[in-house]
Amino acid sequence: MAIIILAIETSCDDTCAAIVKAGGRKRPRFDILSDVRSSQVKIHAPYGGVVPNLAARAHLENMGPVLKQCFRNADLQIENGKSQVDLITVTTHPGLIPCLLIGTNVARTLAWIWDKPIVGANHLEGHIYANWVIPVGIKEKLKMQKAKIRFPAMCLIVSGGHTQLVLIKHRGDFKIIGETLDDAAGEAFDKVARLLGLSFPGGPQIERLAQSAQNIAESIQMEPISSRRPSQTGRRQSQKKLLRDSAWKPQLPRPMINSKDYDFSFSGLKTAVLYLVQDLQKSRKAIKLYSSKAFKARLCYEFQQAVIDVLIAKTIKAAKNYKAKTVILGGGVGANQELRRQLQIAVEEKLSNVNCQMSNIKYCTDNAVIIAIAGYFRYLEGKTKTWKNIIARATL
Ligand code: KG4
Ligand code: ZN
Repeated sequence: MAIIILAIETSCDDTCAAIVKAGGRKRPRFDILSDVRSSQVKIHAPYGGVVPNLAARAHLENMGPVLKQCFRNADLQIENGKSQVDLITVTTHPGLIPCLLIGTNVARTLAWIWDKPIVGANHLEGHIYANWVIPVGIKEKLKMQKAKIRFPAMCLIVSGGHTQLVLIKHRGDFKIIGETLDDAAGEAFDKVARLLGLSFPGGPQIERLAQSAQNIAESIQMEPISSRRPSQTGRRQSQKKLLRDSAWKPQLPRPMINSKDYDFSFSGLKTAVLYLVQDLQKSRKAIKLYSSKAFKARLCYEFQQAVIDVLIAKTIKAAKNYKAKTVILGGGVGANQELRRQLQIAVEEKLSNVNCQMSNIKYCTDNAVIIAIAGYFRYLEGKTKTWKNIIARATL
C-alpha cells in the first residue's frame, strides 16, 4: 500500500521540503508530488561559506512559505488541522545543529498536531539512497533501480560537509571505511573559489572555469595558426598567447593519494593554492598573468584534477580490496561532470565486472526527496518514532 510522506531537510543552507508517494517493499516506487528547495546562496555568498546562525534564521523564515508551496504543488490540503500525510521524515543528523534544530522541531510539531509517525533520517543515507532510484517518464516519478546496485557496494560520498567511503554490504548496512581528516572535498572547492574571488558555492564555478581551461588548451594544441578565424582576436587571443608564452602550468599535490588507508585530506591542497597565488603576486610578470582569466582557469583545472585524482584513486583501491560489485557516487560534488566522467572510465578500466552508479544530477545536492527515500527505507524496517523521541544531533 502506498503512503504519503512529507520530508523536511535543513541540515545546511537549503530549506527543503518534499511530498512523495511511496509504495512497495521489494521494489519501492516513489512519485514526487512536490520538491521545493529554497536556496540561501545570497545570504552566505559574502562570507564564502555557510554561516550557521544566519542559515538557521533563514530556515526559520523560509520554512513556512516552503511548506505552503510544497502542499500547493502536491495539491494536498490541510483541513481542520488534519492532513493526508501518513509519515513525516526529517533530517536529524549529521549537520549544523542550529539548522537541524529548525527542521526537526517543525517536523516534531507537525507530527504532534497531526498525530502521525515520524522518522529521523541520516543526511548521508539520503545521499546514498539517491542512487537507488532513477527518474522515469515525463512526470517527476522515481522508481527503484533494477539490479544496478549489487552488493557489496562501495559508495563515495562527497559533499560540502563530508567526504567518506562507505562500504554497503546490503541495503541499510553501512560502514564508513575512510573519511576526510580535515576539509571535505566540497569545502575545499568553496575555499579555493573564495581565494580566487569566485562566487559561492565554489564547486560549480571551479568546474566551469576548469572546463574553459580545457577548451583553451585543446584549441591551442589542435588549431593550426593559419586556420584562426579573424574574429578570434582580442582578449581571448592575448590570453592564449600569455599561456603559450608563459608555459605556466601549475602543479598541485595529490594529498594522501598513496597512503595505505582510505582517508582523505584536502586542507593542504587549499594551502598549496594559497601559497602559489601569493608567490605569483610577488613578481611583476606574474601579476600580469595572475590578473588574466586564463590563469584562474588553469589553476581551477589543476585543483579540480588534484581532487578528482585522489577521490578516484582511493575509491578504486577500496572497491578492489573490499571486492565491491558496484561503485556508487553521491553528494553535492557528485554533480561535477568531470568527476563523473573520469570515475566511470576508471571503474571500467581498472575493475572487472564492476558497474558504476551515480545519482541523477538533480538529486546530488541537498534536497528533501532523498530524505523521503531514506525515511521510507527506515519505515520499511519498522523504525518509526513518535514526535517525543526525535532529536537532532550534529554528528553521525
Ligand atoms: O551535498 P551538498 O548540497 O551539501 C552538503 O551536504 O554539504 O553539497 C554542497 C557542496 C558545496 O561545497 C558545493 O561547492 C559542491 O557541493 N558542489 C560541487 C558542484 N556542485 C556542488 N562541487 C564540484 N563541482 C560541482 N559541479
Ligand atoms: Zn548534503
